[in-house]
Amino acid sequence: MKPFEKYLLNRTTLPNSHTLAVYQANGGYKALEKVLKKPMTPAEIIAEMKASNLRGRGGAGFPCGMKWSFMPDPAKDPRPRYLAVNADESEPGTCKDRVLMEKDPHGLIEGCLIAAYAMKLQAVYIYVRGEYRKSYDTLLAAIAEARKAGLVGKRVMGTDFSCEVWMHKGAGAYICGEETGLMESLEGKRGHPRPKPPFPAGFGLWGQPTTVNNVETIFNVPFIVERGGAWLASIGTQNSKGNFLCGISGHVNKPGVYELPFGVTAREIVDEVAGGIWKGRKCKAWFPGGSSCALLRGEDLDVVLDHDSLRAKGSSLGTAAMIVMDDTTSIARVMEIIARFYDHESCGQCSQCREGTQWLAQIFHRIATGHGKPDDVATLESLAKGMAPAKTICALADAAAIPTLSAVRIFKSELEECIRQAKDPLAPPRIEYAGAH
Ligand SMILES: Cc1cc2nc3c(=O)[nH]c(=O)nc-3n(C[C@H](O)[C@H](O)[C@H](O)COP(=O)(O)O)c2cc1C
Ligand code: SF4
Repeated sequence: MKPFEKYLLNRTTLPNSHTLAVYQANGGYKALEKVLKKPMTPAEIIAEMKASNLRGRGGAGFPCGMKWSFMPDPAKDPRPRYLAVNADESEPGTCKDRVLMEKDPHGLIEGCLIAAYAMKLQAVYIYVRGEYRKSYDTLLAAIAEARKAGLVGKRVMGTDFSCEVWMHKGAGAYICGEETGLMESLEGKRGHPRPKPPFPAGFGLWGQPTTVNNVETIFNVPFIVERGGAWLASIGTQNSKGNFLCGISGHVNKPGVYELPFGVTAREIVDEVAGGIWKGRKCKAWFPGGSSCALLRGEDLDVVLDHDSLRAKGSSLGTAAMIVMDDTTSIARVMEIIARFYDHESCGQCSQCREGTQWLAQIFHRIATGHGKPDDVATLESLAKGMAPAKTICALADAAAIPTLSAVRIFKSELEECIRQAKDPLAPPRIEYAGAH
């Protein structure tokens, strides 16, 4: 791998990296100072964000500067407006935002304040996954420290800019990471996604203009303001710019969250960063960016990890959370676990998703336990095609259908062999629990 400069995780290894003193001693809040004291205009910041080509790190990869520019001009639309930071981080395999929140919370707060200034808003809500108690407590303490230092609240740094940052804790539902489910939940309602349009920039939190951004997306903002959009755009590949956090898990020797520039190959990440496949085995299959992406084969590890290259391979970057499986892995069992997750997390509003996820889980279960029926693979395929693409209110149904379609395409013969033999030769011993299908 070519040498590259890290910037996202540099502070996270310092002792007491979560404190204001350490953050400021390492250049923290200088970008906010530049914005407020130079001063930069909101339009100038949005222009830098657009120039950087930063794409959202929450899964969909939408250009951040463009998203911010969708917020209506307050001169024409004086309604209150909000930024909601998506820290729900529940996509299986994904655990990158947690590192930022626990180890460098002021980086996120500074990013929120700059984003708020750029979008001319005064209230930011950070929606943290319910299970992330440490992230929540660390951020809460950091916000209190920042408020005491005049960095959050009224007249930030003694200027005319005021901004509050509020925290909200989720209650353990994956669907509350979907941006409209998140907003419903923040409003105190059941986290049921809303049909789009209207989009959040026009009708968001409490019906007001709102931008929803992922933690890592916002964390990039102070760096872009300090060093310029052109600097970020100089890193990476044609349509994927900057460094990104790659969470790698599964059958590798050194799972973890690593900072990497777009342009590295998946094989470089597995072999040089994550210490190779464990026990000297081979890679059989892998998810590039969480379980909602299409599975790829072990032979596909030479693909570059960026939006375009993964799309060309029939998958996607998602949250850049690689899940690696060795050659002893049962695909039926993996898919059973994944399907059960989506079945459990479906909010139930759309029949394709509510019924489809339940059937996917049942069928993968019976294949994995030796009770598969001769036409099960065909049924899986037709079920998944009935669920996606974009046939439901939100993309959870797609998230269940996409890995299913890839498993059926790539590992059809393995699934059919389980059915033919009336057992899964690769299945590990089962630990049954109450509620299993
Ligand atoms: C079912 C589902 C769950 C999601 N969970 C998350 C999540 O936990 N965190 C996140 O940032 N985005 C999640 N997203 C994507 C968000 O809807 C949204 O695209 C993202 O927060 C936008 O931020 P970004 O533009 O900065 O990437 C999820 C989407 C879906 C369909
Ligand atoms: S696709 Fe599934 S999770 Fe999304 S709104 Fe419909 S039922 Fe709910």
